[in-house]
Amino acid sequence: MGCRMKLVFLGFLFLLSICNTTDGAVSISIMKKIREVNKKGHYLGIVVPNSYEMSPLLQSSSFVADEKLPYVDFSGRRFRIGTVESKKVIIVMTGLSMLNAGIATELLLSLFRVKGVIHYGIAGNANPELQIGDVTIPRYWAHSGLWNWQRYGDGVNDDLSLESNGDFTRKIGYLNFSDYTIDQANKTSSANSLNSVWYQPEEIFPVNGTPEARQHAFWVPVNSHYYAVAKKLKNIKLEGCVNSTCLPRTPELFMVDKGCSANVFVDNAAYRLFMNTKFNVSPIDMESAAVALVSLQEGIPFIAVRGLSDLAGGGSSVSNEADTFSSLAAQNSVAVLLGFIALLPS
Ligand SMILES: *[C@@H]1O[C@H](CO)[C@@H](O)[C@H](O)[C@H]1NC(C)=O
Ligand SMILES: *[C@@H]1O[C@H](CO)[C@@H](O)[C@H](O)[C@H]1NC(C)=O
Ligand SMILES: *[C@@H]1O[C@H](CO)[C@@H](O)[C@H](O)[C@H]1NC(C)=O
Repeated sequence: MGCRMKLVFLGFLFLLSICNTTDGAVSISIMKKIREVNKKGHYLGIVVPNSYEMSPLLQSSSFVADEKLPYVDFSGRRFRIGTVESKKVIIVMTGLSMLNAGIATELLLSLFRVKGVIHYGIAGNANPELQIGDVTIPRYWAHSGLWNWQRYGDGVNDDLSLESNGDFTRKIGYLNFSDYTIDQANKTSSANSLNSVWYQPEEIFPVNGTPEARQHAFWVPVNSHYYAVAKKLKNIKLEGCVNSTCLPRTPELFMVDKGCSANVFVDNAAYRLFMNTKFNVSPIDMESAAVALVSLQEGIPFIAVRGLSDLAGGGSSVSNEADTFSSLAAQNSVAVLLGFIALLPS
């Protein structure tokens, strides 16, 4: 190779290395695939927390993977491309909890052309009128894990720390630990040094807002058109038996008022009762509100379907019911998801 040729060759290698890194974390080869996917138009984004919830969807005959490009792997996530009920979809599994759900949803909406987000999975149940196996679609979701933990000695009339800045508020409500002391009458004082936690709205930064100018959101409504469509599924047939063990009544779909999410697995009857009586919450999970909050900020229609797998600690048995009924709850949530997607326009 002549000197000139070597220089040209080195220059070519240099360009190649620049080309593969100039887009930050998204390499040229990934970007090419993403463009390929986006060329085919707008997709429904299906966001699901865990593999045991995703499997029944992937195994259903309604799901057909794209022949040419069945998935794009990026940032530890697999974005599965295909159709469900003949509608173009991208399915992403987030992993457990709020951070994972937020990251995966943001990646989905930043990288791909998505016209709506449908989230589904299983949940704990805080509503005494519902049973395991029922599927819920709440009108509103809140992240119930952002708290201001009040110092001991302060009460309802005392400002929270940083409240005057507008960082925190007493408008939403609180949980007072002293209300949950067992056998209160038998104690000299029921006061509890953990005092109270006050529920706080999330700070949000919508895409159409001024950058860095925060807004607040606690109850995030699902898309009203999606909610109206979902109502038509009222009489959908759901499964009521796991092997030969059947539930007392056949599960149904319920359009409920509220659901909440936090980085907490709730297996506690007192907290379940509190969330239901204070906030009228039915499903309690660890992801939906994160997906709702990201969709809200991105201005993308959102709805969530959650099958009830346990009583969030309210059951009579010692062990949590999720062990027995999580597969049934996941299957029923997929049945509602499929029914819903079938009703959407192409
Ligand atoms: C108070 O609690 C103690 C310990 O749990 C128990 O032994 C005692 O009987 C209780 N007293 C009353 C009056 O309930
Ligand atoms: C919580 O209960 C304690 C008594 O244990 C009381 O002093 C305090 O004011 C209560 N806080 C709120 C916010 O109600
Ligand atoms: C139901 O039956 C299948 C296959 O026999 C088994 O793998 C599964 O563990 C059973 N589920 C329950 C909850 O008993």
